[in-house]
Amino acid sequence: MKALILSGGTGTRLRPFTYSIPKQLVPVANKPVLLHCLENVRAMGVTEVGLIVGGQEEQIRAVVGDGSPLGLEITYIPQHLPLGLAHCVQIARDFLGDDDFVMYLGDNMLIGGTTEAAKAFQEQRPDAALLVTEVPDPRQFGVAEVDAEGRVLALAEKPPHPRSNLALIGVYFFTPAIHEAVAGLRPSARGELEITDAIQRLVEDGRAVSAERFTGYWKDTGNVEDMLDCNRVLLDALRAQGPYAGVDPDSVLTGEVVLGPGAEIIASRVEGPVVVGAGTVIRNSHIGPHTAVGRDCELTGTGISDSIVLEGASIRDVQGIHGSLIGRWADVQAGTSLPRRRLLVGDHSQISLSA
Ligand code: G1P
Repeated sequence: MKALILSGGTGTRLRPFTYSIPKQLVPVANKPVLLHCLENVRAMGVTEVGLIVGGQEEQIRAVVGDGSPLGLEITYIPQHLPLGLAHCVQIARDFLGDDDFVMYLGDNMLIGGTTEAAKAFQEQRPDAALLVTEVPDPRQFGVAEVDAEGRVLALAEKPPHPRSNLALIGVYFFTPAIHEAVAGLRPSARGELEITDAIQRLVEDGRAVSAERFTGYWKDTGNVEDMLDCNRVLLDALRAQGPYAGVDPDSVLTGEVVLGPGAEIIASRVEGPVVVGAGTVIRNSHIGPHTAVGRDCELTGTGISDSIVLEGASIRDVQGIHGSLIGRWADVQAGTSLPRRRLLVGDHSQISLSA
């Protein structure tokens, strides 16, 4: 089985971050979402990966490279415009050949449950198997109508009046039967070639299409709230890796705390779960819980919880930062004793707060 991973798209719901960083590279618990996805694919026993990339290909190449450290062989497939998931299958035709494949949306976080689904697909080999889960508002997703045996009866993309609460969660297993179904599709109302329309064709042609209930944790990390939720879940699974060379005697660490090489904690309180990247210096601050600080950051006189700080950011004398995402190399500073504030700060921003 091969994998087709989708890492194009414009990430409009994560602006301003996505002006300068592909959404798939925004880190949760200090690891880009896309790397979590590639690790899951490798755990399914897949080594050949086609990676669909858009305008921010260079940044993705810089992080993923040829995939060899992950045990993967990556083929980059450029998509010049985000024309839909079925369009991705069309442009990957040469790479996919006549192999079965898993198509996986590179901005979806799945924890647990994917290897079992891959195994079930390989054993039963329906023409398509879709991972689904119950959601409170299916109108934001592809929706599957499923019978008692798990056979898919009909599909709709973001229907205004959903006929079930089962959403497609961004992982699809296909046999080569999908290629005929994507050929000759017409763009949907939103101007895209929809994979849901292609799978609906398979259903109408009497092909076997099954829905697998996903049992693990899933989030489409399209917005900041979802990113922070994933961050909390991953950090909750963190295990401390002391002893720590870079912690001075005036600092107190509680709970699960992971420090990267060369990270320094000076006169600070770190309340786990917290992960701190390599080379980051934390001084006179209170960090955590549920906070991931990237590499080469500088946090001084700062109080921050339930947040993600990207590499190279510096924060000085700002208390009460909560539920925030701070972009790469951002510089945030203020006077002391401010009430709690919420910050969504894009890359290279300069923020100066007055009392
Ligand atoms: C895409 C699919 C949709 C699926 C969702 C999962 O939507 O089109 O069927 O439910 O991913 O995250 P998009 O993220 O393109 O809006």
